Amino acid sequence: MGEKDVIVVVREFDHEKDRLGVEDVEKRCEVGPSGKVSLFTDLLGDPICRVRHSPSFLMLVAEMDDEKQIVGMIRGCIKTVTCGKKLSRSGKNPHQTTTKPVPVYTKVAYILGLRVSPSHRRTGIGLQLVRKMEEWFKENGAEYSYIATDSDNLASVKLFTDKCGYSKFRTPSILVNPVFAHRVGVSHRVTIIKLTPSDAECLYRRRFSTIEFFPRDIDSVLNNKLSLGTFLAVPRGFTWTGSDRFLSDPPESWAVISVWNSKDVFTLEVRGASRMKRTLAKTTRIVDRALPWLRLPSIPELFRPFGLHFLYGLGGEGPNAVKMVKALCGFAHNLAKERGCGVVATEVSSREPLRLGVPHWRMLSCDEDLWCIKRLGEDYSDGSVGDWTKSPPGLSIFVDPREF
Ligand SMILES: CC(C)(COP(=O)(O)OP(=O)(O)OC[C@H]1O[C@@H](n2cnc3c(N)ncnc32)[C@H](O)[C@@H]1OP(=O)(O)O)[C@@H](O)C(=O)NCCC(=O)NCCS
Repeated sequence: MGEKDVIVVVREFDHEKDRLGVEDVEKRCEVGPSGKVSLFTDLLGDPICRVRHSPSFLMLVAEMDDEKQIVGMIRGCIKTVTCGKKLSRSGKNPHQTTTKPVPVYTKVAYILGLRVSPSHRRTGIGLQLVRKMEEWFKENGAEYSYIATDSDNLASVKLFTDKCGYSKFRTPSILVNPVFAHRVGVSHRVTIIKLTPSDAECLYRRRFSTIEFFPRDIDSVLNNKLSLGTFLAVPRGFTWTGSDRFLSDPPESWAVISVWNSKDVFTLEVRGASRMKRTLAKTTRIVDRALPWLRLPSIPELFRPFGLHFLYGLGGEGPNAVKMVKALCGFAHNLAKERGCGVVATEVSSREPLRLGVPHWRMLSCDEDLWCIKRLGEDYSDGSVGDWTKSPPGLSIFVDPREF
């Protein structure tokens, strides 16, 4: 501990005792400097909501030793995900074996929701929270730890890279599209089929399990009550006869996407926008509602709390896959509109070829969500992928909706 470090106790969050204190810190952290627009998150009374659906999770708080005031918190979770692939032989007859890529899994930990009260910053509290969380990660066998942060969040980037030994790893993009007051058209040349969770699981495991960060417990994601379904786009006229048949004889082009209901987990609100901007937004929305056939992109109502749907598990194949993705996003937009969401968001690899089919507004999106990673111990075996932190990125990345 350095000289400037204040005396805080870092301990596990206690819902009864700490909820109000945590909410207070959360509120003070989100409201940006006066005059600037900032995004406020309402965790709807459940500070653990952003990790509670993960297989194992922990939330810690930092409390001032003397006044018993909460001044910071951190959330973390641990799960098993794909970190690479290897070739495996299959087939019983040694003369007829084929090789196919299979996933290599690792136990990873993820840090999110780190907050320190503005009045107590730069006194070492953030660092203490990270270190304590990493202890729990190691005790539970996690091999890597990673975080995602806005690339221009200097405080957070420096904390993790300069002080905690993390290195810059991946830079996926968060693509956000507003939900308009009108429905959007979906191509008539595409049929959209809702898959059962078990068909979806089969498709994801057989086609996507070698993608980085694919969660080994994909079944618990798909069966979670927040998952609103997996939707498959195929050429019109194609009939679905089960995942086995589909996978052995797929149409020339197809695409798939799953929808997660983040609206029931947290809401967002833009605060601090000028009255002019608000009025403009309101006017376009009224016009859009009154004259929907104009198909005006109305600025969504972001100045009141709004919810979102998160699209995950985006994939597809064939020459028309991008068009199929576009149709799925149109469908997902209309679902979000029916369910009263303000925006639809997704997160994709910067090299994802299918991102061309995802409609989004640049001003609402984040081009570079910076993921930093660290290897937690040196005594792990290198396995067949070696040190993951040094591996080049793939074309796609699987972003788990549970921790978005
Ligand atoms: C990021 C945050 C948690 C840091 O908390 P903190 O308690 O102030 O951090 P610490 O005092 O432990 O700082 C440790 C190191 O981080 C880096 N750091 C922290 N704040 C910094 C800043 N404003 N500018 C540059 N470096 C900074 C420094 O290397 C610092 O070490 P130093 O003080 O010896 O130079 C805090 O700024 C915060 O709550 N920000 C808003 C929420 C947020 O962005 N969370 C991160 C999302 S993952």
